[in-house]
Amino acid sequence: MAKLWAGVTAGETDPLADDFNSSIRFDSRMFRQDIRGSMAHAAMLAARHIITGDERDALTGGLAGILEDLESGALAIDTGCEDIHMFVEQELTARIGETGKKLHTARSRNDQVALDLRLYLREECAEIGGLLDRLTGVLTDVAEQHTESIMPGYTHLQRAQPVSFGHYLMAYAMMLLRDRERLHDALGRMNVSPIGCCALAGTTYDTDRAMEARLLGFADVARNSMDGVSDRDFCLELMGAFSILMMHLSRLSEELILWASWEFRFIELSDAYTTGSSIMPQKRNADMAELVRGKTGRVYGDLMGLLTTLKGLPLAYNKDMQEDKERVFDACDTVKLCLRIMAPMLAGMTVRTDNMLRAAQTGFINATDLADYLVRKGLPFRSAYQLAGRLVARCMEDGQVLESLPLSVYRSYSPLFGEDLYQEIDLKTCMEKRISEGGTSSASVKKQIAWVRAVLEHD
Ligand code: ARG
Repeated sequence: MAKLWAGVTAGETDPLADDFNSSIRFDSRMFRQDIRGSMAHAAMLAARHIITGDERDALTGGLAGILEDLESGALAIDTGCEDIHMFVEQELTARIGETGKKLHTARSRNDQVALDLRLYLREECAEIGGLLDRLTGVLTDVAEQHTESIMPGYTHLQRAQPVSFGHYLMAYAMMLLRDRERLHDALGRMNVSPIGCCALAGTTYDTDRAMEARLLGFADVARNSMDGVSDRDFCLELMGAFSILMMHLSRLSEELILWASWEFRFIELSDAYTTGSSIMPQKRNADMAELVRGKTGRVYGDLMGLLTTLKGLPLAYNKDMQEDKERVFDACDTVKLCLRIMAPMLAGMTVRTDNMLRAAQTGFINATDLADYLVRKGLPFRSAYQLAGRLVARCMEDGQVLESLPLSVYRSYSPLFGEDLYQEIDLKTCMEKRISEGGTSSASVKKQIAWVRAVLEHD
């Protein structure tokens, strides 16, 4: 079939080249945005008397029909077309005749594709933002049930100080709130209209770019036409935000995998989100969490792939840029899948507070509190630290924990020790006394929960 772009190029292209050149396999998912953009374009052309009102109505009616038929399945996308833009234009002309050929006045596929992609990703951002908030909500709800569930907090994966499971989960809620902000920031810069930049240099027609931008809900127009058609920063920024988000989900997944292991047994994942082994009947594998961790690499790859594609491109549009879509679509699809699976997996897990507490009872995670006790009795911190260290070593020798070491032994190290010591090194006291802003006390964690909920609700 003759190409819509057959101008000076009269010769036939090789079918292999057509196939290589084509993007319809992956850009047809933007058909709604393409049609919406074309409707706005027709409206602007008529408003500036570049086409007549009747022509606008014919174009808009034809486009609406195509949209309806694509939605209902009555019309199938012709994968023989080079891309979605060509398909829609070809179908329109087939339906309404010569007027269809006027749609592409004062427009190029270069600004058209940049427009479609921004429209498409804007919608994805809204959907992903909703899924992200849902996951943050689940974390917050589970945290609320565990503001008093004591577990060991770790540094270097060594037991460090007691924290509540609620506090632990709220750390992830904070990360997700920052991801939400990053998404929002990326959306702000994405919400700029490239349509009207045309091929690269603008157009000789008296167009109204601001009107098209307004019709399509953009906050602004791209201020330089060469930049407008060749800017893909919005894809990179989005994938940058996604990469950080996936890194967070991957860290959380790693925790879930560890916690679900027999070594920790802090949680049990529900049957709905675990798999068995084909050979070992006892197995319950955290495959979903492992896949989230694994798919993180995939999203990083999408970002690196597009960064690499763009790095050597001279202005303005180059066909290399067609490679943007598969990357950014894959990143969106992957992020959505992961957010969708994480929320119910977390909501449905069983939290084994008994095992968490048992782990907290060994490892001397109240040693800092022992030192702080001595500080309150007047000893300088460094000396108190050394003395607490010696007592921990003594416990290790005797097979004791700090709570079970007799007062007489304590007093043989320092006369500052009294009966009140045991209350001070009780794990619950250790946790509840950490009342500093952002600390692990239940009062502080409740404040964190309230703050996160307020952010989720108010903007
Ligand atoms: N399918 C193309 C893409 O995705 C559309 C733009 C084509 N422009 C061009 N001058 N060949 O980038």
